[in-house]
Amino acid sequence: MLIIETSNYTELSKRAANLVIDEISKKPNLRICFATGKTPFGMYEELIKTYKKKKVDFSKIISFNLDEYLGIKKENKNSYFYYMHENFFNHININKKNINLLDSETKDSKKECLLYERKIKEKPIDLMILGVGVNGHIGFNEPFSSFNSKTRVIELSDETIKRNSKYFRNIQNVPKKAITIGIGTVLNSKKIILLASGKDKSEAIKKLIKTKPDKSCPVTALRKHDNLIVILHKEAGRIIR
Ligand code: GLP
Repeated sequence: MLIIETSNYTELSKRAANLVIDEISKKPNLRICFATGKTPFGMYEELIKTYKKKKVDFSKIISFNLDEYLGIKKENKNSYFYYMHENFFNHININKKNINLLDSETKDSKKECLLYERKIKEKPIDLMILGVGVNGHIGFNEPFSSFNSKTRVIELSDETIKRNSKYFRNIQNVPKKAITIGIGTVLNSKKIILLASGKDKSEAIKKLIKTKPDKSCPVTALRKHDNLIVILHKEAGRIIR
């Protein structure tokens, strides 16, 4: 595990973006799995800036996304479809055919999971970008998810619903279910970059760095991976000293 501590959020975002750009320059058709949430937002801004300076080409990359709410419209501002298009895809030259997003409107969520898992099997992920939840969740793999889990429907924990409710009009509007790539699927990626920013992530990061893998904190599963880079904003990193 390589830990990069940064002194502010801008630096975290730049370091993450530079790592992504390096990987794309080595492999233009990189298969990359993106994350949503506030943490990777600055990384997307940096990637867009670099693209506008013509220093990175996204035309051949193949994208996946970690997770998606179930039962909301794609055009809902809280869908991850909306987040990715609004904050990233609409501003770069990614080929729309190479975007693989989970369908929040699916009528057959089990089939959607199987299809997604099959797509990933056919085009294994080279680079996985992850954020982390306050309770240690990765994607929407809530505490006690199996470390071998695959893409599946998950019931969101009360804690996650409460925390994510700030983005919705009220807590009743937060979907109770989501689809997430599994922890096993995450661990099959060739390289993982985990981003953590903010004091409220410090407990989860401390467990990742200092304790054995434990299902009560899903992010600790990443200790099993031999190509993991953790980029921390100092507030989340302070606890490692
Ligand atoms: C959400 C997402 C995760 C994300 C996490 C942290 O629930 N499903 O993929 O990593 O929470 O989000 P944030 O970066 O906003 O703290």
